Amino acid sequence: MGKNIFLLLLTLVLSTIVASSLERRHSHGVGKLYLTNLLKRDSTIDNNRHFSSAFDNLDLDKFVLSQKGLKHKDKIKRLPGQPLVKFKQYGGYVTVNEFAGRALFYYFVEAENSKSLPLLLWLNGGPGCSAVAYGAMEELGPFRVHSDGKTLYRNHYAWNHVANILFLESPAGVGFSYSNTTSDIESNGDKNTAIDNLIFLLNWIERFPEYKNRDFYITGESYAGHFVPELAERILHHNKLAKKTLINLKGIMIGNAVINYETDKKGMYEYHASHGLIPDEILEQIERYCNFSDKALPQSHECDDAINVAIADTDPIDLYNIYAPLCPNSDDLTAYNTLNKNSVMFDPCSDDYVIAYMNRLDVQKALHANVTKIKYNWQPCSEVIANWTDSPLTIIPILKKVMANGVRVWIFSGDTDGIVPVTSTKKSIKKMKLPVETPWYPWFHNDEVGGYAQVYKGNLTFATVRGAGHQVPSYQPTRALSLAKYFLAGTELPNSPRHKIIT
Ligand SMILES: *[C@@H]1O[C@H](CO)[C@@H](O)[C@H](O)[C@H]1NC(C)=O
Ligand SMILES: *[C@@H]1O[C@H](CO)[C@@H](O)[C@H](O)[C@H]1NC(C)=O
Ligand SMILES: *[C@@H]1O[C@H](CO)[C@@H](O)[C@H](O)[C@H]1NC(C)=O
Ligand SMILES: *[C@@H]1O[C@H](CO)[C@@H](O)[C@H](O)[C@H]1NC(C)=O
Ligand SMILES: *[C@@H]1O[C@H](CO)[C@@H](O)[C@H](O)[C@H]1NC(C)=O
Repeated sequence: MGKNIFLLLLTLVLSTIVASSLERRHSHGVGKLYLTNLLKRDSTIDNNRHFSSAFDNLDLDKFVLSQKGLKHKDKIKRLPGQPLVKFKQYGGYVTVNEFAGRALFYYFVEAENSKSLPLLLWLNGGPGCSAVAYGAMEELGPFRVHSDGKTLYRNHYAWNHVANILFLESPAGVGFSYSNTTSDIESNGDKNTAIDNLIFLLNWIERFPEYKNRDFYITGESYAGHFVPELAERILHHNKLAKKTLINLKGIMIGNAVINYETDKKGMYEYHASHGLIPDEILEQIERYCNFSDKALPQSHECDDAINVAIADTDPIDLYNIYAPLCPNSDDLTAYNTLNKNSVMFDPCSDDYVIAYMNRLDVQKALHANVTKIKYNWQPCSEVIANWTDSPLTIIPILKKVMANGVRVWIFSGDTDGIVPVTSTKKSIKKMKLPVETPWYPWFHNDEVGGYAQVYKGNLTFATVRGAGHQVPSYQPTRALSLAKYFLAGTELPNSPRHKIIT
């Protein structure tokens, strides 16, 4: 069987899952596109991890425009249905390419109490998913959307307790970010995304000059396991070229991150078998007959058959959090919300509430979003990005380069995620062959085990978050906030229930 036929079949199988009546619960997830996978569809995809010299020698000064008066214009007075808060919020566009008419949308929330805290950028994955949808409105942002799709309530464990948080919708074609040159949307890939993100940042700190020398951190999850280190690498490269610290990058942190294709895949099926989702025989068949050393590799029919069984077995559950309830199929937004009113449990219909909220005209106006009347709706994961031109099979060399530059790297893993599970991440880290500094230990939060951690020599910390799915701050908000706090402080997660006081 030809490679193309296999790829076609695989795409059909995977896209059927997403297109089925189960769409709702599968679509709630940063990896919707990671599942249907743009990356698998195109066997001509460029897996070369090196940036071309054209990118390396880019004269970024040309892309930094005057930002005078724009910060003031971006100030958000109040979001519709928002409870009163003391911190300031901003929203707006940064042009990353004047000629193409390409602009990225950001939403920025200042820290709750002290503005002198670090600046933290959050990116979501996909590729194609929005950091406003997930990061801001369902994970670590200050508000969550009520089931009415109109009003907001406080997330008491928002990360703006410990940092000023910048959410970026990237690349163009995601959320409110757009390009006036349609072909831009077809040529998105890892390289373009990294460059656009860097140009965005350079312009953004011109607009918000008080952050120019501020300690800066980049964080994100899922396919942002690519975006975050790739942006870090670009920043280090351009700091070097400029012979000065354009951006004061201190650390990066990625969760349930796509790191290394082969170990990500192997670890995923291992997790499914060890968590009783697929039979051991199917795992054995996958281990024996599948070869995940390359995305475009044609597989044997024994491999295809086994994978199809695994897909059928895991299809009826939410693989982004294998123990989570599903959002029932219903057009009535309020149908589900009574179930868990007083529970800390994450509402599995949250995507629907956020979609309703973000598509409101008054909300877009308040955010200064969609000023050019984009032709399509706002979606949590882009439906207009249909191609992805380049995606390295592994991000490990970039991670190593970032670490070698003294940048702190933390990798975390919600341990009930079945998409990029803890088994995948452990395998990927093992491939890095780093000596252990602090061996595996339970870390504590509020007198309970928050997860497990291991510290490696060479500026890497790995931490699991107990009872969290793919979007860790959605499912374990207090543990996630604690993780962020220790990451920013640069101290090890506490190994006993006694609280280590960090300042
Ligand atoms: C895109 O086109 C619209 C309509 O002409 C224009 O208002 C807008 O400024 C353009 N965007 C950019 C980033 O140049
Ligand atoms: C998997 O495929 C790669 C590339 O074709 C090949 O080099 C490798 O030997 C294969 N691995 C196994 C275990 O067959
Ligand atoms: C932008 O606004 C237009 C006109 O109101 C609307 O039809 C479209 O859905 C919006 N798109 C996005 C991405 O918000
Ligand atoms: C993007 O996808 C479309 C539709 O599949 C295809 O026609 C086009 O050639 C692709 N573009 C690139 C740059 O791969
Ligand atoms: C870790 O960071 C330090 C600087 O803080 C750097 O000197 C060292 O080379 C890094 N270690 C490794 C193994 O990359």
